Amino acid sequence: MEMETVILSTHTPELFSAAVQRAAAVLRDGGLAALPTETVYGLAANAFNARAVARIFEVKGRPAHNPIIVHVADSAMARRCVEHWPALADRLEKAFWPGPLTLVLRKADGVPDIVTAGGPTVGIRWPSHPIMQAVIRACGFPLAAPSANLSNQVSPTNAAHVYKHLKGRIPLILDGGQSNVGIESTVLDVTGNPPRVLRPGMIHSSALLALTGSLQAGAETEEGALKSPGMLAKHYSPRAPLLVRKWNDEETLRQLIQKAGSPGKIAVLAHTAIPGATDIFRVAVLPRDARAYARALYAELHQCDDSAVDLILVEELPEGAEWKAIHDRLRRAASK
Ligand code: TXA
Ligand code: MG
Repeated sequence: MEMETVILSTHTPELFSAAVQRAAAVLRDGGLAALPTETVYGLAANAFNARAVARIFEVKGRPAHNPIIVHVADSAMARRCVEHWPALADRLEKAFWPGPLTLVLRKADGVPDIVTAGGPTVGIRWPSHPIMQAVIRACGFPLAAPSANLSNQVSPTNAAHVYKHLKGRIPLILDGGQSNVGIESTVLDVTGNPPRVLRPGMIHSSALLALTGSLQAGAETEEGALKSPGMLAKHYSPRAPLLVRKWNDEETLRQLIQKAGSPGKIAVLAHTAIPGATDIFRVAVLPRDARAYARALYAELHQCDDSAVDLILVEELPEGAEWKAIHDRLRRAASK
């Protein structure tokens, strides 16, 4: 079903409020709207409307076993979605919301099964982006929203990325500029004791540990992976093969390219060892700071898709807690 996809700007107070009203009207009607959040853009539907949420799965080509995060704009709304609000959730809320943290809790009966992929738990997040917040408030109901990309592809961090994937499939995209965090939220399962990180994000374990005291081994264990169905699939992938490698000089880089056997268009994403060679199709210079790197990464991967490169070589990242989620996304992008 082809439809016209409208992108609305929000950079003046008048445009902002008109765009928010328009999105709320579409969502109240059971339609879908792509909305900016501080992590990545989301494809939103009324979380209490099972038919609207079913459309999300259709539009994205998302497997039915993968649950969707529910976005709220205040504490009362968060509590309405869950069976019970534990004291730990309270502390995490005070420390990290609004922000890039999703809490997995036992779901309330009112949350339709399709949102949770039939499971007993629901992921809840209170995003900090003013447009997302304004739309949720205007609606008065929470919004189920996965990243606004086709399933398994790179998440969108601006309106143009969303348009590229979902043009003709959804009526509306709100343009809220570049997402500030740039990679998806940390998903923390607080149904068990101690809690478990199901997906690392820019709120990292050391920050969480200050509040939780301890954490179970995370998504890398078999049980962790089963608890977060989205992490089983190949995910967050650009079209071209992606390799993470270390090189100190161009000679080493050249050997790496040769070894990869790719004669075509090569993209290099570097942050310290920047090659000057002219036969590399695209050299992206990424920041050396983890937050800035995360903010920039997906736009670079989208750029690689857009110019149909044959191979993406990413310079090996530093170690350390603040880089962990970026390591995770690159590992997934590299797995084919
Ligand atoms: O930053 C984000 O989280 C973005 C923005 C739009 O909020 N959303 C996002 O959604 O990344 P999505 O659907 O692309 O990824 C959600 C992840 C998936 O890996 C999914 O399996 C997991 O969260 N998830 C959602 N609900 C869950 C639940 N009840 N239990 C375990 N994992 C859950
Ligand atoms: Mg996603």
